Amino acid sequence: MTVNGTEVGAEVEDRTLLVHFLRDAAGQTATNVGCDTTSCGACTVLLDGESVKSCTVLAAQAEGCEVTTVEGLSDGSGEMHPVQRAFRQEHGLQCGFCTPGMVMAVVSLLRENPQPTEEQVRVGLEGNLCRCTGYHNIVRAALAAARTDAG
Ligand code: FES
Ligand code: FES
Repeated sequence: MTVNGTEVGAEVEDRTLLVHFLRDAAGQTATNVGCDTTSCGACTVLLDGESVKSCTVLAAQAEGCEVTTVEGLSDGSGEMHPVQRAFRQEHGLQCGFCTPGMVMAVVSLLRENPQPTEEQVRVGLEGNLCRCTGYHNIVRAALAAARTDAG
């Protein structure tokens, strides 16, 4: 598969989850494993442009696909992606464990709906849990990113 623009191949067990492939074979360790049971969203990545929980996808299912993790969001110039900047500006994180998945979920949300309402942001992020922030600043970050046409 292609991970953040680089082709990555590895021989893995049938049961290997995409998130473990990304962390162990591709060395992209920003994607976190929170629950391993499709509940928390910490492992959210883009698979052929669609957001997925990468603990829910087998690595083998992603064969030949294009995967983007939070490490792949920057355009290579060293600048953060507008959604990342918005999270920083709006203080949308505390411990940061949920943040890579949360950022990818917001990127996906804004691609589908570039100008969401607050309610639409809250519904769109329902699959991503955060134990620290109370969500308000995360929602503010998503809305701020939408104002910069971040999608
Ligand atoms: S680790 Fe994938 S949803 Fe929690
Ligand atoms: S910032 Fe700690 S879990 Fe979200």
